[in-house]
Amino acid sequence: MPDSIPKQRVDLEDLSLHDGAAVLLRRALAGLAAGEWCEVHGDSAELAGHLAVWCRKQGIRCERQSGVPGLFRIEAPQRPPVIFTSRTEIAETAEAHWGIAPRGARIERGGPELGFTLRRKRDVWASELNSIYSQATTNQWSATRDIAWNELPKLPDDIEGAIAQVMTFLTENEFAALYVPARFIPRIHPHYSEVVEVLAMQVVDEARHKEAFTRRAEAGGAGLGTTAVSGQLSLKTLLEEPDFTTATFLLCVMGEGTFLTLLKFLADHAPDPVTAALARLAHRDEARHVAFGVEHMRYIFERAPETRLSMAAAVESRSRMLASISGLSPYVHDALVIYAGGGVSNAHVRAGARHVADLQREMDRTRRDRLQSLGFDPGLAANMSAYHTKNFM
Ligand SMILES: [Fe+2]
Ligand SMILES: [Fe+2]
Repeated sequence: MPDSIPKQRVDLEDLSLHDGAAVLLRRALAGLAAGEWCEVHGDSAELAGHLAVWCRKQGIRCERQSGVPGLFRIEAPQRPPVIFTSRTEIAETAEAHWGIAPRGARIERGGPELGFTLRRKRDVWASELNSIYSQATTNQWSATRDIAWNELPKLPDDIEGAIAQVMTFLTENEFAALYVPARFIPRIHPHYSEVVEVLAMQVVDEARHKEAFTRRAEAGGAGLGTTAVSGQLSLKTLLEEPDFTTATFLLCVMGEGTFLTLLKFLADHAPDPVTAALARLAHRDEARHVAFGVEHMRYIFERAPETRLSMAAAVESRSRMLASISGLSPYVHDALVIYAGGGVSNAHVRAGARHVADLQREMDRTRRDRLQSLGFDPGLAANMSAYHTKNFM
C-alpha cells in the first residue's frame, strides 16, 4: 500500500493555475508512483477552486488539509502506459504501433499505426550506415559554388553536342536513381532511421547531379539532346521493382556500380575542366551509393545466402523484359565515341570507338569483381554481368 505521507511538496506561493502552476504540479507528480501523495501549498485566493477543477479534469484525487489555509494534497494518478525502445539496440522487428517516434524515446501506447511496411531489420539494414551518412553530409557540393563555370572553353560544335548528349543520358539516369530510393523512404520504419537518412542523402545527391548535368548540357550552348526509348524502358524496370532489396541490388550494385566506371571514363576523357570536375564529384557521391548497396547486400547474404540466387534471377528477368533492346542507345554510344575520341574525323572515331569498347569491358570486369566480392561464384558473376542492361544503369 502506498503510504499517505506526501513524498513531494510544491509551494506555489501566489502562482495561480492561470499563471502556469500546472507545470509545477505535473513535474512533482511525475516523480511519484501512482497512489503517492504530493503536498501543495499556495496563497492565491482562487487556488482551492482552481485546483479542484484542474484535478477533476485530470482524474486526480485532491484533498484539502483541514486546519491549514492554502494546504492541499493531490494523489499521483496512473500514468498512461508507455513503451520503452532502446536507443542503441536495433530491434529485429519494429512494431507498427511505435509510430514515427525516434528510437530511444518513450512512446505512449495507443498511437496510430502509420503503415510502414519495411519493419524488419533484415529488410533494410546495412553496416557502415553512420560512416556513409557522415561522409555524405561532409562531402555535399554545389553546382553553383564549387564548379568554375567561367573556365568552360568554347569547344567545337561536334564535341559540345556529344557532351550535351552524354549529359542528357546522365540526367535521365539521375532521375531514376532519385526516384527509386525516394519511393522506399516512406515505407521504412523510423526505427531504422539510419537507413532513411542515408537514402535521403542519396536523393539529395541525385537531385544535385541532375541539376549539374543539365546545366553542363546548356552551358556550352548545345542544350539537352535526345533520350532513347530503350533507355527509358530499362529505367522503367528499375522504377517499378517493388522489393527494396532487389531494387537496391539492381540500382546501387549493378547500375550505380557500372556508372562508377562510366563517370571515371568521363572524367579521364573530358574535353574540358568543367565536365571533368562534374564527373569526378558525381563519382565521389556514387561511390557512397554503391557502398550502401554493397553493405546492404552483404548484410542480407550473411543471413540468407540463398538471396544471391534471387538477385541473379532478378538480373536475368530484367534482361528478359528488355530483350527487345539490342544494345546501348546509338545516341549515347556515338556521343561517347566522339567525346572520348576528341572529334569526328576517321582517326578520332577509330580512337573513340576503341575507348568505348574498353569502357564496356572495364564495366563488365568491375561488375564481376563486385559480385564476386559479394560471394557470387565467378561463373554466376560473369552471367549476371552479361545480363546487365546494355544501357548501363
Ligand atoms: Fe547520381
Ligand atoms: Fe547514385
